[in-house]
Amino acid sequence: MNVVPRELMTETPILPADFRGAMRHLTGGVSVITAGRGKDITGMTVTSVTSLSVEPPTLLVSINRDASSFPLIRRYGAFGVNILAADQLDVAERFAGKGGLKGAARFAGSQWVTSVSGVPLLVGALSAVDCEVEEIVERHSHGIVIGRVRDIRNSTRNAALAYWHGQYVAVDQDEDAARLAEVSLPTHSRRGV
Ligand SMILES: Cc1cc2nc3c(=O)[nH]c(=O)nc-3n(C[C@H](O)[C@H](O)[C@H](O)COP(=O)(O)O)c2cc1C
Repeated sequence: MNVVPRELMTETPILPADFRGAMRHLTGGVSVITAGRGKDITGMTVTSVTSLSVEPPTLLVSINRDASSFPLIRRYGAFGVNILAADQLDVAERFAGKGGLKGAARFAGSQWVTSVSGVPLLVGALSAVDCEVEEIVERHSHGIVIGRVRDIRNSTRNAALAYWHGQYVAVDQDEDAARLAEVSLPTHSRRGV
């Protein structure tokens, strides 16, 4: 079924600060999107990567149309998704443009390999996923980029980097699993009954 986009009528105008305030409550896994070939490369830090379907394997990412990665993704029809580990905070900051870093300069200081599609993939990422662009839906300020997965490099690491309330946080599976087990105990066990 096709849904025709339309302007929704709202009773009160939604203030940008209120919308941003709501979105700050979403905890997002941090990834670096990479795009381009050879020296014509760039990338950006994102939290908007979402799995779309398993069969076929597709994912989507929402990218600002003014970002330097956007025209490269469109031109080459490919992009990499590098899901960051908790100890890759410096990579996240470089690809968010910290210190005015642009393009290929963002890749310095970490190790990269070239994917089947030709985009750089980060060595040591939790997972690095090579995608071919299936479709780009341009809507408002952003493009929703749908990627068909061509290759996956999974690591055995599991401490992830997340972003929540405007700051980076580490999500460590073992530590969190232990804490969850603790709070999940039945009430009578916690009281020692
Ligand atoms: C934690 C974090 C998450 C971000 N997520 C997104 C995102 O999902 N989509 C997006 O377009 N920009 C996102 N950004 C902003 C881009 O990383 C930033 O604008 C980009 O690196 C700069 O683009 P440039 O390559 O044009 O300099 C995010 C930034 C941070 C710090």
